[in-house]
Amino acid sequence: MTTPTQHPILVLGGTGKTGSRVVDALRARGAAVRVASRSAEQHFDWSDDSTWAPALAGASAVYLVPLDGVPTGPAFVRQAAAAGVERIVLLSARGTDTPGYFAADDPANLARLELEAAVRDSGAQWTILRPGWFAQNFSEGFFRDEIRSGELYLPAGSAAVSFVDTEDIAAVAVAALLDPGHAGRTYELSGPRAVTFDEALAEIAAATGHRARYIPVEPAAYTAALVDQGLSELDAGIWTSALNGILRGLEAKVSDGIPRALGRPGRDFTEFVRTAASTGAWTV
Ligand SMILES: NC(=O)c1ccc[n+]([C@@H]2O[C@H](COP(=O)([O-])OP(=O)(O)OC[C@H]3O[C@@H](n4cnc5c(N)ncnc54)[C@H](OP(=O)(O)O)[C@@H]3O)[C@@H](O)[C@H]2O)c1
Repeated sequence: MTTPTQHPILVLGGTGKTGSRVVDALRARGAAVRVASRSAEQHFDWSDDSTWAPALAGASAVYLVPLDGVPTGPAFVRQAAAAGVERIVLLSARGTDTPGYFAADDPANLARLELEAAVRDSGAQWTILRPGWFAQNFSEGFFRDEIRSGELYLPAGSAAVSFVDTEDIAAVAVAALLDPGHAGRTYELSGPRAVTFDEALAEIAAATGHRARYIPVEPAAYTAALVDQGLSELDAGIWTSALNGILRGLEAKVSDGIPRALGRPGRDFTEFVRTAASTGAWTV
């Protein structure tokens, strides 16, 4: 274990599902942290490059949470390396370089591949995290409101998913930011077992008494419903395309990145549900 540097570590997406946990875990290790996003103390906006230099000033390392479908990531990485950043830990996604996992013209995945390449070519020490679907989508993300209202509609059939707890993603990120031995590594991250949406909602019901129903829908109908709800065609397409990996059974795989990086298994979905229920995540 190295002594944390007092040059700040810049955490992009520092208010989000992984970034906020990276911030907490870095502070627990005594590291200096600069929390950045549009609403954070360090204003940072992917679409306004005048906000990048102040965020990068004096930073020794960056936890990089990209914004899906936004192409400015590689330019930011080049600017970070030029500003003296020595380590970059990138949050990417599972399947990004697996042929057939995403559609060949999927804009979010094309942007992700370019960003991964920019990070590897940056000259900084790099670690790439490729997580599958987050467990916290149920408690903090886009499944939560439908679960609270009693019906969760998804184009996911009866497939199972090895949901990964964002506490574990943060733990791997912090190890890569502070400790030796993770440079040049790509970690595919998942939870230790796969659950179906029916099983996940049953676990939430057992912990909270609130039973939501899972209702499978066709992908095209799902995209149309998202557009009706006000999403752009691009964003609706990105979401449906991301969910397509679940429908085809690709997200059931259990990956070895957490044991490889941390020497322990990932947190089980039941433990995630217990923790989220105790904070009132699904209280209506
Ligand atoms: N969710 C999953 O299951 C999953 C699985 C695999 C990979 N991923 C990847 O993880 C990344 C994060 O996704 P997420 O849905 O979980 O989101 P999240 O990290 O929970 O939230 C997004 C973060 O980005 C910030 N943000 C939003 N727009 C921004 C902008 N224009 N400029 C700067 N910061 C901005 C938000 O804060 P402000 O609103 O304050 O700006 C927030 O901190 C994505 O790249 C996604 O592909 C997600």
